[in-house]
Amino acid sequence: MNVAALKEKPDRAAWLKGGQVVCSVPPRKPPGNPVRLVLLGAPGVGKGTQAELLSDRLGCCHLSTGDVFRTAKSLSESERTPALNEALEHMRRGELVPDRTVLALVTERLRCLHCRSGFSLDGFPRTLAQAEALERLLKQEGLCLSAVLNYQLPLEEIIARLAGRRTCPICKAVYHTTALPPRRDDACDHCGVKLLRREDDRPESVRVRMAAYEESTRPLIDFYRQRDLLITVAAGGTPEETFHRTMEQIGGLP
Ligand code: AP5
Repeated sequence: MNVAALKEKPDRAAWLKGGQVVCSVPPRKPPGNPVRLVLLGAPGVGKGTQAELLSDRLGCCHLSTGDVFRTAKSLSESERTPALNEALEHMRRGELVPDRTVLALVTERLRCLHCRSGFSLDGFPRTLAQAEALERLLKQEGLCLSAVLNYQLPLEEIIARLAGRRTCPICKAVYHTTALPPRRDDACDHCGVKLLRREDDRPESVRVRMAAYEESTRPLIDFYRQRDLLITVAAGGTPEETFHRTMEQIGGLP
C-alpha cells in the first residue's frame, strides 16, 4: 500500500459521507482566492479526471454527486433510506436520480460549498431545476461561482474512454486501462485495492446516460452562457493537455 500517496490525497469525507463527518485529510488551502467551479460535459468526457487534477494543483475540493451515490452503495440494507435505494436503482440503469433526492443530498452538505479551498462541482447541477436551485443556494450562502467549464469531445472518443475506465472503490480515483493505467496492474495507486469497472459503464446504461445528458444537461450550457460564466474547453488529447488548456482559460480568474 502506498501510504505516502494515501496521506496526500484529500479524503473528501465531509462530502462523501455527509452528516457531521469532517475531512481527516482536508484539501490544501490555495495561496490565492479559492476557485469555485462547475464542470459540465457528457458522461465520460473526463470531468472527474480534470477535477482530480484541479484538486491536486489548485486545492479546490472535488465534489462529485456520483461519488456520493457510489459511496452510499457500500452502506448496509438497514442503513439505506428508501430514497437512496431508489437513487441507486436509477443510477444502475443510467437514468438521472430525481431532483428532490439530489437536492436533499447537496443541501445536507452545504458546508462543503464554503470549503476554504474552493470546490469543483462534478455531476451537479445536471438539470435546469438543479441549476436554478444551486443559484438560489449560492446566493443564500453569499457565494459566487468563478466559472463553469464545459468539456467537449466527439462521441466515439467518449465511448472509448468509458470502455476502459476503472475506478477505486475506496478513494474513487479514476484510471483508464491504456490512457491512465495504475502503476501496478489493476490496483489503486493510493489504496492498493483492486480497481473495478463501474456498473453504469455497460453499453445499455451508457446509451441511457447519453440520452439523459442530451435532454436534461445540455440546456445548462445556455443557462450558464447567459450568466457569462461559461468557458468551453476541448477535452481531446491527454489528461495533462486538457488540464493545461483548462488552466490557460481560468488562469485569469479573480
Ligand atoms: P457521475 O458519476 O457524475 O457520472 P457522469 O457524469 O456520467 O460522468 P462520468 O463519471 O461517467 O465521466 P467523467 O466525465 O467524470 O469522466 P472520467 O474523468 O471518469 O454520475 C453517475 C450517475 O449518478 C448518473 O448517471 C446519475 O444516475 C447519478 N447522478 C449523479 N449526479 C446526479 C445529478 N446531479 N442528478 C441526477 N442524477 C445524478 O473519465 C472517463 C474515462 O476516461 C476514465 O477512464 C479516465 O481515466 C479516461 N480519461 C479521462 N480523460 C482522458 C484523456 N484526456 N485521455 C484519455 N482518457 C481519459
